Amino acid sequence: MPHPPKQVQQLADLGFSPLGAGPIDDSRPIVAGGKVEAFGDIVALASPRFVVEVGSWEGRSAVLWGNALAQTAGDWALACIDTWLGSVEHRQIKTGEWGIERLYLEDHCPSIFRTFASNIRRAGMADNVIPLPIDSPQGLEILAVSNIYADLIYVDAAHDYAAARADIAVSLMLRDETNANALVLCDDFHPAWPGVQQAVRECAAASFARLVIRDGQAALLSKRADAIADALVARGWTEEKVFSAGKPSGGSGAEREVIQRLTADLRVEQHRAHAVRVERDRANAALVELDALRSTFSWRITAPLRAIRGALRRR
Ligand SMILES: C[S@@+](CC[C@H](N)C(=O)[O-])C[C@H]1O[C@@H](n2cnc3c(N)ncnc32)[C@H](O)[C@@H]1O
Repeated sequence: MPHPPKQVQQLADLGFSPLGAGPIDDSRPIVAGGKVEAFGDIVALASPRFVVEVGSWEGRSAVLWGNALAQTAGDWALACIDTWLGSVEHRQIKTGEWGIERLYLEDHCPSIFRTFASNIRRAGMADNVIPLPIDSPQGLEILAVSNIYADLIYVDAAHDYAAARADIAVSLMLRDETNANALVLCDDFHPAWPGVQQAVRECAAASFARLVIRDGQAALLSKRADAIADALVARGWTEEKVFSAGKPSGGSGAEREVIQRLTADLRVEQHRAHAVRVERDRANAALVELDALRSTFSWRITAPLRAIRGALRRR
């Protein structure tokens, strides 16, 4: 029997569970198609088992990931972070897949989640897909503070520079360190979305990642995943040189200055995230010790210990 990735249990402990059986609304559009080749290349080469998707909309890319992951051996899971409330562009376009009409407003509020759920269930992936209905800063922070890391983080939520940069920067920290091939993939890396392009380039530079692109999909890979980056290039992906020999290449002095500043910012954030993890691990160890102590003392002793334990939990 296949084993679900351990992150599924970690998410369950936080109250996030697979979509599971439920209603399918036949009046909602069926979504299909997209960047099949790019997704297929990533899955074939990097073999992810646990994927986080940031921005799912009606489930089109989630179904694509599911189809690609289902081709490989072993169990898989896809955690989808979305408010299911839509983005800026969905209020600017009237009709079609990305337009106002697809928000399916009900008493003023978008009901996109119903479309998403219907598509995931139709595709037979309801047991593998775990919705996280929350905004991306909160959703990603929940994963970070809960030590939930992924083999692949796919970023396709808000497309303005500041939001995209924040999503990508945190996603880079959520790559599973035990998996050398763990990567971040960003959608819409093309001139129509200059904010996304800028954010991707800056984050790649700041994290010393290799940047390879196909069909508007930008993969950020660490040096440890050189073999994957080379294989993607061999399959027709284009590499954009962000660094040469570990240093910023090309660009004006001002651009290099920005890159250095952003690198420093990223380091600070990484230290902060590390400190939070260390503190949490310490608190967990203290909890285990307290539990052991508790079982050896009388009830008079256990009451104050419970109070300390509660205080530690609240931290
Ligand atoms: C471009 S659509 C995603 C499309 C999807 N990946 C696909 O290819 O089918 C962007 C999605 O991001 C979500 N979104 C926008 N800003 C967000 C935020 N700050 N947090 C979470 N979701 C957000 C929107 O609700 C929308 O569903």
